Amino acid sequence: MRTQVGIVGAGPAGLLLSHLLARQGIDAVVLETRSRDYVEQRVRAGVLEHPTVELLREVGLADRLDREGLPHEGISLRFDGGDHRIDFADLTGRGIVVYGQQEVVKDLIAARLDAGGDILFEVSDVAVAGLDDDPLITFTDADGRAQELHCAVIAGCDGFHGITRGAFAPEMFERDYPFAWLGILAKAAPTHHELVYASHANGFALYSMRSPEVTRLYLQVPPDTDASTWSDGQVWDELGTRLAADGFHLNEGPVLEKSVTAMRSVVAEPMRHGRLFLAGDAAHIVPPTGAKGMNLAIADVRVLAEALTGYLRNGDESGIDAYSDTCLRRVWRAEHFSWWMTSMLHTFDTEDAFTRRLQLSQLRYTVSSRAAATSLAENYVGLPHGAL
Ligand code: APR
Ligand code: PHB
Repeated sequence: MRTQVGIVGAGPAGLLLSHLLARQGIDAVVLETRSRDYVEQRVRAGVLEHPTVELLREVGLADRLDREGLPHEGISLRFDGGDHRIDFADLTGRGIVVYGQQEVVKDLIAARLDAGGDILFEVSDVAVAGLDDDPLITFTDADGRAQELHCAVIAGCDGFHGITRGAFAPEMFERDYPFAWLGILAKAAPTHHELVYASHANGFALYSMRSPEVTRLYLQVPPDTDASTWSDGQVWDELGTRLAADGFHLNEGPVLEKSVTAMRSVVAEPMRHGRLFLAGDAAHIVPPTGAKGMNLAIADVRVLAEALTGYLRNGDESGIDAYSDTCLRRVWRAEHFSWWMTSMLHTFDTEDAFTRRLQLSQLRYTVSSRAAATSLAENYVGLPHGAL
């Protein structure tokens, strides 16, 4: 088999890259280890930044998003028993859209397959070679046949646990956090129209949603927590405690899904080796507190699609040479923002009264100073692509 761009991984990064390249007349083949059903059902975060929404609209991928997505113009920070709204519309003139990552993935897969795009699901034994001059991807297809895919370049979009990053030795920058998030998806109508980030002495809690019928909620828990050790009743009780505020009522309902998300910050530098380009979670992960993961993956592939178009059409290497540095500027801004939100909102050590007072001071400053609130808001709604 032969194609121009061999894409490893059918998450938001790999799928959107194949769509953007197809619009420029460039061929790509996407290889994915999981089944179509698995990647379409995988529950992940659900906040789309303003620049993400604009891009999806620009490239014809926003019909369902515009019908079913929930536009939000702010969030609440809740601490010390008080609720404080950060008004994105007033501070930045922009907002976000709540729309699950798996909905974006479903829309992308449908668009690619309708256009005759190649996505091979349920492949195995994926390996990459010839990164300096003659890229080759070897794999076993869904029928068990050994295959070779020759390509001009390889895009490593295979997520944090993929294989492409291991094909070279980028420098790794990491930070672990001493907690995780227990997340539930509940069949319960949201009772508050925006997201609530709550800092409580028992730990952080997040109130989010997926639709007018489904609430998404998270609790800070110890890092090695087994989700099954929390009964539904315990989860609702603890959410009630941590999210409590005057006039706030939490609707309870059947728990549809319960899982634990690890919290880490990791960046690989550089994001390119020869003709292999990493994008999305394959190159960097953020803790979910700033909701940046999918948005960063989308920003990467926008830069990559343009760089590869220049290279494959005209032999222009300026875009591919600048790719890693261009992406890393936005990546590190998002790393800082996610680390900052995480540090401000979670309980690190209940004995450490000094840290708790610093957190509360930072929270009070953020909700009372227009300059500080604007800094949070412009990062949350997403700095314009290319701004850094
Ligand atoms: N070969 C082929 N595909 C692979 C391999 C492999 N060896 N290893 C992993 N994959 C697939 C995974 O099954 C997954 O479908 O690569 C895909 C990577 O997708 P994501 O993990 O969704 O990563 P990305 O597209 O970069 O999107 C980033 O995902 O993890 C969230 O919070 C993160 O929202 C962010 C988004
Ligand atoms: C979610 O809805 O899953 C979500 C929202 C905001 C975050 C993280 C996750 O910061």
